[in-house]
Amino acid sequence: MADLTTSYLGLDLRAPIIASASPLTGQLDSLLALERAGAGAVVLPSLFQEEVEAEEMAAVDMMEVGDGFAEFDSAPLAGIDMSGMGTQHHLDLVAEATANLSVPVIASVNGSRKGGWVDYAKELVAAGANGIELNLFSVNTDETESSADVEERYLEIISAVRAGIDVPLAVKLSQHITGLSAFALRAQQAGADGLVLFNRFYGAEVDLDAMALTSKLALSTSDELRYPLRWIGILRAQREGLGLAATSGVHSGLDAVKAILVGADVVCTTSEVLHAGPERIGGMIAELDEWLDAHGYPSANEARAAMSAANVPDPGQFERAQYMKVITSR
Ligand SMILES: Cc1cc2nc3c(=O)[nH]c(=O)nc-3n(C[C@H](O)[C@H](O)[C@H](O)COP(=O)(O)O)c2cc1C
Repeated sequence: MADLTTSYLGLDLRAPIIASASPLTGQLDSLLALERAGAGAVVLPSLFQEEVEAEEMAAVDMMEVGDGFAEFDSAPLAGIDMSGMGTQHHLDLVAEATANLSVPVIASVNGSRKGGWVDYAKELVAAGANGIELNLFSVNTDETESSADVEERYLEIISAVRAGIDVPLAVKLSQHITGLSAFALRAQQAGADGLVLFNRFYGAEVDLDAMALTSKLALSTSDELRYPLRWIGILRAQREGLGLAATSGVHSGLDAVKAILVGADVVCTTSEVLHAGPERIGGMIAELDEWLDAHGYPSANEARAAMSAANVPDPGQFERAQYMKVITSR
């Protein structure tokens, strides 16, 4: 068997396949099943900025109602059991997962604007998280906010999270960043240990029968891996020391091989395990191992980045030239 051990964000993993955030990583029994199947690490479902803010608003509402009564004393709020509520649930899950799993447990926070919610990264670490994944997501509709402003806003969040934690920090991005190479450099300078490329967008859908807007959860296909492959290939050649994880479209061990060859430290998988069950990770690892053996690589580390932009004869294939070639080859 090939040596699959991998260093990601400074964490030592037994295999370069991670179970990314989904409902499967939100419960102990499926977390244990993912670990048994061979996952190198797990990423818990995100604590969303909106969950934190909703909780804060609810607390303020209670205070305001109370203020209407002369005898109101806000102290009892401190004694209210919040265990069934959002943020506490995430903290409890981190504690439960780290107590029961031996692979690294990465907690996730998801937001779009700096605020008090970023402090929860610190709390998740205090609860035991071995790393934090910061998912930056926003649909940018403010006509006065330029792309540069949006990037600045994201960098502020990265710095704020970094300042509060002393464990590895990965930043999960969508592919809608205009100057990704420049942003990757600045994200690293702001304290990101790695990038997770790319989060999927769920667009709008129109239900013609109901004449209503809906949003549909569609699982990915391997075809979507082309976008992470391009950018990981480019960034691996540009950013020494920046961890790179491929997400979106990893459905097999061969998909993992492709991502590792262009330079990914790890791949993350969600749709495949939601569809086929946690044990599918074992099959993916076997496929990865078989390919490495058949191609004379004793370890995943030796295959890593063999096809990054620094190591292929024509790195332009990662860029625009690729598009022209596809057109002219018809
Ligand atoms: C049902 C579901 C829930 C998800 N929840 C989260 C989440 O809480 N936080 C997050 O960063 N990504 C979340 N994701 C995104 C996945 O972690 C992953 O990045 C994405 O599905 C692309 O990977 P895939 O092609 O393997 O599915 C979720 C995806 C699905 C399908």
